[in-house]
Amino acid sequence: MSKTLLSTTDLSVSYGAVKAVRGSNLVVKEGEVIALLGPNGAGKSSTLRALVGLIKSQGRIEFDGQDISNLPTERVVSMGLSLVPEGRRLFTNLTVRENLLLGAPRNAKVGDLFDDLLQRLPILKERLGQISGTLSGGEQQQVAVARALMSKPKLLLIDEPSLGLAPTIVDSVYQLLNDLKKTGLAMIIVEQEVMRVLKFADRAYAMSTGEVALEGSSEQLRNSDEIRKVYLGGA
Ligand SMILES: Nc1ncnc2c1ncn2[C@@H]1O[C@H](COP(=O)(O)OP(=O)(O)O)[C@@H](O)[C@H]1O
Ligand SMILES: [Mg+2]
Repeated sequence: MSKTLLSTTDLSVSYGAVKAVRGSNLVVKEGEVIALLGPNGAGKSSTLRALVGLIKSQGRIEFDGQDISNLPTERVVSMGLSLVPEGRRLFTNLTVRENLLLGAPRNAKVGDLFDDLLQRLPILKERLGQISGTLSGGEQQQVAVARALMSKPKLLLIDEPSLGLAPTIVDSVYQLLNDLKKTGLAMIIVEQEVMRVLKFADRAYAMSTGEVALEGSSEQLRNSDEIRKVYLGGA
């Protein structure tokens, strides 16, 4: 059995009186791809943001054998955990190159990082000088993923990669994710395109009002009546 890369124990997130995440226990093994499902407001983004220290959480988060609960984001990222945020959050007035540089750790050998990245994503080479806001939605998503790769993560957290993209473009985003999966990169993917992500991921968790309501292999969840009911409007 492969090693545990990330685990949460009783992870909770509150915004004042709102409990967004209520005691979730998640596990990601090395190289594993996890789908994190749930309707709007279920606590998926809050979970990802808590994992990288962007918001305060209760409970314990262990990554790569270390307690990372409430560590500053920069520390967490430097340890190999990186987030592609919902809505991509590129600086649209900056070039692709400048956006990528913002994902590089301080003191990094930027030249080496770029060489590495362009080997994995040769398509970016022609785009480095382009203003990010002039890229298509699919290309912006690729740049957002590439920016997160600049820190050489072991685990990539991706919040709604298909948001606002046409189905054929979503294909190309998943093609990129599939290339990354083959390199052994572990991922947690938050996704509304439930059947698509359940064909891609190894295992899945489904959240409902802050709690993990279901978990299992992707195949189990694809065949689950609850999943069909909630996401596909009837069994
Ligand atoms: N910055 C915030 N301040 C207050 N409440 C928030 C904030 N962000 C999210 N919430 C609330 O926390 C809950 C979970 O939100 P979120 O994690 O964004 O869910 P999801 O990503 O599953 O749609 C929702 O009830 C949402 O309204
Ligand atoms: Mg969200």
